[in-house]
Amino acid sequence: MTTLTDQQAALHQRGLEHLWIPTQSYADLAADDGLLVIRKGSGIFLEDDQGREYIDAMSGLWLVAVGHGREELADIAHRQMSELAYQNTFAYANEPAVELASKLADLTPSRLRKAVFVNGGSEAVDTALRIAKHYHFLKGNKKKFKTISRIGSYHGMTAGALSVNASTYANRAPYEPLVPGALHVPNVNCDRCPYEKTYPECDVFCARTIEDQIRAQGPDTIAAMIAEPISTSNGSYVPPAAYWRTLRELCDKYDIVLIADEVINGFGRTGRWFGMNHFDVEPDIMTFAKQLSSGYSPIAATMVSDEIARTFEDAGPEGSIGGITWGANPVACAVALGNLEIIEREELVENSARIGEHVRSRLVALREEHRTVHQTRGTGLMQVIELKRNPATGEDFEESDQVSQRVTQYLRDEGVLARGGASIPYAPPLTVNLEEADELVNRISRAIARLETELGL
Ligand SMILES: Cc1ncc(COP(=O)(O)O)c(C=O)c1O
Repeated sequence: MTTLTDQQAALHQRGLEHLWIPTQSYADLAADDGLLVIRKGSGIFLEDDQGREYIDAMSGLWLVAVGHGREELADIAHRQMSELAYQNTFAYANEPAVELASKLADLTPSRLRKAVFVNGGSEAVDTALRIAKHYHFLKGNKKKFKTISRIGSYHGMTAGALSVNASTYANRAPYEPLVPGALHVPNVNCDRCPYEKTYPECDVFCARTIEDQIRAQGPDTIAAMIAEPISTSNGSYVPPAAYWRTLRELCDKYDIVLIADEVINGFGRTGRWFGMNHFDVEPDIMTFAKQLSSGYSPIAATMVSDEIARTFEDAGPEGSIGGITWGANPVACAVALGNLEIIEREELVENSARIGEHVRSRLVALREEHRTVHQTRGTGLMQVIELKRNPATGEDFEESDQVSQRVTQYLRDEGVLARGGASIPYAPPLTVNLEEADELVNRISRAIARLETELGL
C-alpha cells in the first residue's frame, strides 16, 4: 500500500497520463505502488517521494560513476551557464569542449586523437558507423557500406544503432526494414559457446570464423565491425584477450574500421579506464556516453584514430560530417570534465577494481548459498548474477514464474533498485565502499531466498 498525500497522488496520476516511461508495461505502472517517483539521491542511495531509501544497484543505467548529489558538478554547471550556455557548435569551439576532447585524447589508447561530441550513446554509435562509412568513401572505397555486429549485442535505439543491435532487449520488428547491410555474427561466450566448443582448445573459433562471413560478403563491401569490449547485454562475459586480438587482425587484414562501443564499459565501470584496456588492443574508434558525465549532463562522444582524423582533415568540404545542435554543449562539456576530474582525484577506477574483486568472491559464494544461482560473471563494478530454476539441469524459469516481476519487486522490498529477472545486475556507483558493497550483496541474497521460497524451489 502507498501512503501518498493528495498532492503526490495527483502527480502520480499525471505521470501515468502524460509521461511515457518507455520500457515498462502500463499495467505494471498503473498497479498500486507501480509508479516510482524518485526525488533525490546521495552517494549510492536514492530516495522516492515517500521517503523510502534504496541502493541504486545499477547506477541508474550503469552510469552514475561519481555517485548521486555531487554539488561540485552542480556548481560547475551553474558557473558555465552563467558564463556561456551555448554557441554555434557547428562553426566555433568553446573552452570546455577543447579541454574535454584533449582530456579524452590523454586518457584513451594512443591511436585515438579526435572527438566529436553528441548527446547520448545511440548517437555516438550512429556517428561512429557513419564516420566509418564516410572514411572509406573518402579513400575511394565506395562499396564499403556493410557493418558487422554480434548477436546479443545492444548499441542503442536510433536507426543506425538499432540496425546493429541483435538483442532481445531491443524490439527490432516494428521498425524494419532497418539500415541495409547490417550483418550479425555469433557472439563470444565461453560459458555457453554458440559453437559448443571449449576455450582454449577452440583457439577463439568464434572470432576466427568471422573471416568466412567477411569473405562470403566480399571484403570490399565491409566498412566496420562494432562490439562492446565486455558486453552487458551478452551477460557481462569477459572474453579472452585472444578474441579481441583476432578481431583486430581481421580488421587490419580486410581494411575494416574496428569500433569499440565503450558506452557502458568506459571510465572505470570494468575496473580499468576502458574495457579495451583489459585486452591490450587498440580500436580505430571508441564510443562514449553514460559515465562520461555520470548523468549530470547529457553528453556522449565518438573518438577516432589519428589516421581517420587525418583522412577527414585532408578532404576539404567533402570531409564535413554534419553536426548535431547540442553536440559540444559548453555546459555538458564542463560537467563531463568535472566528472572525470572526480574519477581521477578519488581514484574511482581503482576503487571499482578493488571492490569488484571483493564482490566477485561474495557473488561466487552465492552459488553455495542458493539453489537457483547458476553463474556469476563480470569484472569491476559490472557484475551479474544469473539464476535458473534448476542450475544442475539447466532448466530455465517458466513464464508463469514471473521471474522479472518477482525479482524486481523483492529487490525493491529489500531497498534495492535494479532491473530484476533471471539476470540481476550488480553495478552500483564507483564510489561504493566495502561496507555498502557487502550490504548490497546481502540484500540481493535475501531477495533470491524469497524467490526460492515463493516458488517452492
Ligand atoms: C553498449 C551500449 N551502446 C549504446 C547504448 C545507447 O546509449 P543511449 O541509451 O545513451 O542512447 C547503450 C545503452 O545502454 C549501450 O549499453
